[in-house]
Amino acid sequence: MLKNKNFYISTPLYYVNDKPHLGTAYTSIIADILNRYQKLFGYSSFFITGTDEHGQKCEQSALNRGLSPQEHCDQMSPQFKKTWKILNIEYDLFFRTTFDYHCKAVQNVLQNLYDKGDIYSSHYKGWYCVSEEIFYTEKDLVGAKSAEGKELIPLEEKAWFFKMSKYQKALQNHLDNHPDFIKPKERYNEIQGFLKQPLQDLCVSRPKKRVSWGIELPFDNNCVAYVWVDALLNYVTGAGYLNKKEHFEKYWLNAKKHHLIGKDILMTHAVYWPCFLMALNLPLPDKIFAHGWLLNKEDEKMSKSKGDKLDPLELIELVGLDELRWFLAKEIVLGKDSALSVDLITQKVNEDLADNFGNIFSRISRLIEKHFDGQIPYHTEDSLLKKLTEEKQSLFKNKIDNFELSQALHLLSSLLVEVNKYLEQTAPWKLVKIDKKQAGVVLYNCLEVLRICGILLAPVMPKKMEKFLSALGEEVIFKNTKWGRQALGKALKHSSGLFPKILI
Ligand code: MSP
Repeated sequence: MLKNKNFYISTPLYYVNDKPHLGTAYTSIIADILNRYQKLFGYSSFFITGTDEHGQKCEQSALNRGLSPQEHCDQMSPQFKKTWKILNIEYDLFFRTTFDYHCKAVQNVLQNLYDKGDIYSSHYKGWYCVSEEIFYTEKDLVGAKSAEGKELIPLEEKAWFFKMSKYQKALQNHLDNHPDFIKPKERYNEIQGFLKQPLQDLCVSRPKKRVSWGIELPFDNNCVAYVWVDALLNYVTGAGYLNKKEHFEKYWLNAKKHHLIGKDILMTHAVYWPCFLMALNLPLPDKIFAHGWLLNKEDEKMSKSKGDKLDPLELIELVGLDELRWFLAKEIVLGKDSALSVDLITQKVNEDLADNFGNIFSRISRLIEKHFDGQIPYHTEDSLLKKLTEEKQSLFKNKIDNFELSQALHLLSSLLVEVNKYLEQTAPWKLVKIDKKQAGVVLYNCLEVLRICGILLAPVMPKKMEKFLSALGEEVIFKNTKWGRQALGKALKHSSGLFPKILI
């Protein structure tokens, strides 16, 4: 199997202390879109998402609800699965860290690291943030809180440590030789800066008397694994490490591997995780892409404590599912923070989809129905629109491959603006009365841009584009994005309902 024909993408595993919200839905929708693009481009892909179910935070949430941790997880995890289905997120594996094969693999890994001398016993004295499940030392505190302003508890306990410091040099070399390993550039620089200081060894255990909800250490039955060690390992155990050999070879050893995360969890992914992989002699991911935060009206991260998290299911009732997917993918530059509100989504979606795409299609299909018996007029004549389309198309795939999703979609939306202008200039509704053939050429050209955009936009708006393309008798096939493939005389149904204007 060719390495560059297998594509692997993951989202973080979401904590089950909260139901899905727009922040977690954002990561999953973007991963879904990127994955669908690679499938469209002909890659064999594996998309993994799921829930992070062990640890103190989960144990506390269960306790607060009067449930056992397992019962709590069994109630919460399916809420993510259900929501992702409604949001049309087409993952290959919905992973749960309570899966038996994962727990066994984690124990195997820990034993392996212990046997090779990479895990040793010591004493931990410092701070712990339960909501982030992160250890903090004195020098990391901001006041008496975490960098994110979260509550910390003092800790002093016997603990097991992973020799992370041993891998600092190798990690540094990897970063130096792979400038695209961490994206965007600001995040790469952040980790480069962090690595200028000596890397501390990582505490990888919690005593059962403090936290019992976790995977027991194979060499110390008084302790469970630190939840991040357990959770990060999902990226390989879910791909088949120590359980499905062929699958693992295909989607980890011989694939282009990408982790899409939020910037809040960069350190665990860009430092801890590569060190674990190096200790296990496993290849590192090709890219760790940290996206920004969705912000509230006050430009703060939407959060549970502020109670301002938007519910994606309520939002799609207002603006529509594919419309929301379009907004998140196009209006937010992946990697940047972005404020968002129902008004802004409505305004942007109306501009791009109702007034542009939908309106163009409605006008063209009406004219074709009225003047060409509903048959698509065909003409081979070259046009400026063709040139422009091919120019934008030539840049499009590269942008998607680099996760420059917003930039790629802007190429298409600016093309649609040009189509609108072209329609205004050529006015086929008038032209048809004096030169029917030329009006047919204009309509064909416009429809050709829409058809190509329809295929290229299918990963973002799967349902809407399927509806649109089926009106043209077209399918979502990448090689069909070549100009001039629209067959002559095909029946086209007039449609005005593709993107109705949102009225709020
Ligand atoms: N369980 C850990 C991840 C373990 S991965 C091995 C975790 N879970 S989480 O439920 O807190 O989810 C964090 C992820 O949700 C973030 O990294 C980000 O992808 C997403 N987001 C949560 N709130 C968000 C915003 N307000 N804005 C954008 N993304 C947000 O951390």
